[in-house]
Amino acid sequence: MQRFAIVTGSSSGLGLEVAKFLLSNGYTVFGGSRSGTDIENENFYDVELDISSEESVEEFYETVREYTDKIHLVVNNAGICEMVSVADMTAESFEEHLAINTLGPFLLFKNLESFLVKEQTHIISVLSTAAHYGYPNVSAYNASKFGQLGFMESLKKEWKDHKVRFTNLFPGAIDTPLWNKMGAKFSREKMLKVQDFMSVFTYIVHAPTTIQFPEITFLHREGYLE
Ligand SMILES: NC(=O)c1ccc[n+]([C@@H]2O[C@H](COP(=O)([O-])OP(=O)(O)OC[C@H]3O[C@@H](n4cnc5c(N)ncnc54)[C@H](OP(=O)(O)O)[C@@H]3O)[C@@H](O)[C@H]2O)c1
Repeated sequence: MQRFAIVTGSSSGLGLEVAKFLLSNGYTVFGGSRSGTDIENENFYDVELDISSEESVEEFYETVREYTDKIHLVVNNAGICEMVSVADMTAESFEEHLAINTLGPFLLFKNLESFLVKEQTHIISVLSTAAHYGYPNVSAYNASKFGQLGFMESLKKEWKDHKVRFTNLFPGAIDTPLWNKMGAKFSREKMLKVQDFMSVFTYIVHAPTTIQFPEITFLHREGYLE
């Protein structure tokens, strides 16, 4: 059986690794991002996506619909984070966090429902420990991830009859390009590696479909980064 997956934020970091992993495990992957990837694989569709734009998300799904009406795996991963104090954060940046990290998943799932496969579709959301733990200087990120978690918890109950699986991941800091843009001075040694994230992700994807993982929190053994 051909299995179809959507990965948002496939151009960098975790999303890029997830897309490559799924391709090597036989999935046909629709990767969504603004900048695209250099993945060359006949089963990879590099689709332009601005997750914060309703029009862009609808166009993304129009492309998906040309190939399939069934999605077996969704990796809700696209996200941004700016590290700045509340006093120095602009309202524009705060709104952008909400638009990408909170409104984005709403648009993604609003348009997904007709592609769900009963008892098969698996929805994996890459939230963050910041979805239920407050860190200083990432107020917009915290607010947007707490918001995303609230949305996912509501959706889970609304879609109960579809019998799809929801896995919410709450990783701590991971050494990805996200941190290059943040300019934070934290030691990369105290962050998880992308391979650590992938070992958890691999376990979940390969687990029997009768198992669900409502919440998985994992972080570097050094603890929370702050
Ligand atoms: N790294 C960490 O420490 C960490 C820890 C916990 C959770 N997370 C979460 O993991 C997810 C992936 O982060 P990462 O560390 O892999 O960061 P990353 O390397 O910066 O990748 C972020 C991805 O999100 C995409 N993206 C951002 N804005 C988008 C938009 N408007 N529309 C579509 N795609 C968009 C980016 O693509 P384009 O810019 O090309 O659009 C990129 O592919 C995020 O949700 C993040 O919150 C990260």
